[in-house]
Amino acid sequence: MNQTIETIMNRRSVRSYTVKSIPKEIIRTLIDAGNAAPSGCNAQNWRFVVVESRDFKDKLLSLALPRYKKWMENAPEGLINMRKDIDSACSDPIYYNAPVIVFVIGSGMTSDPDSSMVCENIMLAARSLDIGSCWVYFGQLPIDNQEIRNELELQKDEKVYGPILLGYPKEGFPEPPPKKEAIVKWI
Ligand SMILES: Cc1cc2nc3c(=O)[nH]c(=O)nc-3n(C[C@H](O)[C@H](O)[C@H](O)COP(=O)(O)O)c2cc1C
Repeated sequence: MNQTIETIMNRRSVRSYTVKSIPKEIIRTLIDAGNAAPSGCNAQNWRFVVVESRDFKDKLLSLALPRYKKWMENAPEGLINMRKDIDSACSDPIYYNAPVIVFVIGSGMTSDPDSSMVCENIMLAARSLDIGSCWVYFGQLPIDNQEIRNELELQKDEKVYGPILLGYPKEGFPEPPPKKEAIVKWI
């Protein structure tokens, strides 16, 4: 295996971070890796909001947590069981007290695949530098709040991807969860 494939194979969703902040130039490198993603017609219709502010992270969590709890009341049993350990392990089951939250914001016809590839590039680049990451869809729960929308400068035609958490793993990179065999038809 070469280094690139090893990085891909060893990327894991990290849900426990140290308080150590990530140097700005490294965050910038990760954003640049995201920015290098392919896009339909090379449109690159995306932008990034990097959140490090304690106050803003607290605001996000205070909005997300009650919504998350309400959402979980009606969640499928499988998900409730999957989340039990996660929820009991920390006070922040949404952003896992990550030092950095990156909102990838995209627009345009191919924004779903484009911006998802941006997110994956960031996560892979992070792994290559021993930085943990996690795509947290629940982290989008507060984005209908006007104050949050204003801060993210979200426009009507824009969608949020991720957000992607970044930070140094507190307990290393977890073991991979069970992965299904690839379903392949050869012709
Ligand atoms: C679209 C998407 C949304 C996700 N949302 C969450 C989330 O809200 N919270 C979380 O802890 N993990 C979330 N994850 C991470 C997945 O749970 C994780 O990728 C999966 O369990 C496989 O583990 P691995 O990333 O270590 O391979 C999300 C992943 C994706 C791709």
